[in-house]
Amino acid sequence: MISGAPASGKGTQCEMIVQKFGVVHISTGDLLRAEVSAGTEIGNKAKEYMNSGRLVPDEIVTAMVTARLSLKDAKEKGWLLDGYPRSSAQAESLEKLNIRPDIYIMLDVPDEILIDRCVGRRIDPLTGRIYHVNNFPPDNDEIKARLVTRSDDTEDKVKSRLQIYKQNAEAVLSTYSGVLNKIDGNRPKEVIFKELDSLLTRLQIDKDEASISGLVSSYFTWIFFEGFKYHPTLHFWASFVFSDNIFSSKKLLLICRYLLSSHFQSFGLQKNWRGIPTRLNNIPHSREIRKYFYEDVLQATQRAIRDGKTRLKVEINIPELNPEMDVYRIGTLMELIRNLALSFADDGKRVKGSMGEGSLAGMPLQLAGTRKILEFMDWGDDGAMGNFVKIGSIGGDEVDDQDDMFILVAPQNAVGNCIIDDLRAMTDAAGDRPVILVNPRLKDLPGSSGIMQTMGRDKRLEYAASFEICYHFRLLYYAGTQYPIMGALRMSHPYAYELYKRVDDESPKKEKYVMLTTFAERPSGDEINDSFEGKSR
Ligand code: AP5
Repeated sequence: MISGAPASGKGTQCEMIVQKFGVVHISTGDLLRAEVSAGTEIGNKAKEYMNSGRLVPDEIVTAMVTARLSLKDAKEKGWLLDGYPRSSAQAESLEKLNIRPDIYIMLDVPDEILIDRCVGRRIDPLTGRIYHVNNFPPDNDEIKARLVTRSDDTEDKVKSRLQIYKQNAEAVLSTYSGVLNKIDGNRPKEVIFKELDSLLTRLQIDKDEASISGLVSSYFTWIFFEGFKYHPTLHFWASFVFSDNIFSSKKLLLICRYLLSSHFQSFGLQKNWRGIPTRLNNIPHSREIRKYFYEDVLQATQRAIRDGKTRLKVEINIPELNPEMDVYRIGTLMELIRNLALSFADDGKRVKGSMGEGSLAGMPLQLAGTRKILEFMDWGDDGAMGNFVKIGSIGGDEVDDQDDMFILVAPQNAVGNCIIDDLRAMTDAAGDRPVILVNPRLKDLPGSSGIMQTMGRDKRLEYAASFEICYHFRLLYYAGTQYPIMGALRMSHPYAYELYKRVDDESPKKEKYVMLTTFAERPSGDEINDSFEGKSR
């Protein structure tokens, strides 16, 4: 569904969405205008309302929309509803019919711009294309000569349409708050479309993936009940599963994982993503929360490496991993590293985990001496530690020919000790093998001797910036506090930065987050504040 004030650009974006995604565009404004120009009974009733900028009675519009939605093309290709529902009664009608959108886009444009857009709008009656006398004039005089102005596009009527929109918008928005995406509509139409394109592509991927995982599970069932009989490779699976006459659930899981991962890899899909966890200020975090983040970081990192990225940065600032908080759990960081390393080792990669050696080399104070913890952790019975996973320090000499990738734990510049030269030596030696920095702090700190600020500073900063963020998670608090959480910012390669706002349920009281908007680039503090305050970007 797409919504927004009159002239916020719904029709313009719909043209581009339909072209790219092939969904059926259902615009109540267009349907009503067609009825009016055909002089039908509905058209005659609607005309008076439309000309005065008022809403056409709900029963007329709702009957029209539901009839259109039930047609074959809308069912097969999917639909894009534009300008409906426009009142709480209309939203309720759809809810009763169980008709819900996958996503609700709201185009946000300041009032003064809307009036100019309406007054300057022109329509090509032949193609239905939308133009604007200044913003988007037609290419040639032939089109220009046949353009028409909509009868409700006078300044007075626009003002009244705007007022009616504002009276109803909140009620409709609240129905769809769970799938709401507010988009800044006061930018060039191509820029807006780029953001919509990324949101819709992701949605499509998630939907495809859900149907593929359905397919995979039926395929899997088929393997067990039918497939053994016919397929040679399935005989291999069969003998693998049943060789020791024990129907091992571990083996079953292994096959399931293999099938799913090979399917997902070949389709380039992301596993269904469930939204961000709640109760993040409760420390220690529950096992589920920790597992959620390990998996989230792993998926982003795997996708980035699959996309050929070799200099990566993971920034994860949940309270348990944030040294600024009162309680900071080193075990969680170590567990995250173990998960990453073992998962890559599972894929046959030889992973070197590097930490600073000695008291301060490349390691935050809080982590000094924790390398031993990593060494003593449970690395499984399969001999991964020592064979596939090795622990070393940061530096060029640490890179061996057989290492496939490197995970560097929280490398940090310290006063009087700049890690960057060791890091650079290491990445130079690593060549095109992936190097992943987890929670690095490579800011240029002043050394007691004052040397660090001057010598090669620009080059060092440039080098530190050359690592691409593949995962970012940060909780947002009111300035100067660390409680309560007001939202979160998440980015998982290759998707956009997602801004979440906390909107708790009142009864029963429940912590809840909704996605407010997305950003192609990492947003500034001001951009985040503006979004929270509902201001246009
Ligand atoms: P409807 O046709 O839906 O009108 P609307 O909601 O007022 O929206 P518009 O069509 O005016 O604007 P738009 O957002 O599509 O903007 P556009 O892309 O054209 O409804 C008309 C009437 O029908 C209503 O008043 C009501 O009476 C009735 N009705 C409809 N649905 C109803 C319902 N559910 N219930 C009851 N009654 C209903 O762009 C506008 C202009 O801006 C164009 O000139 C365009 O070129 C320009 N522009 C677009 N994007 C940009 C950009 N990014 N930068 C600069 N200019 C831009």
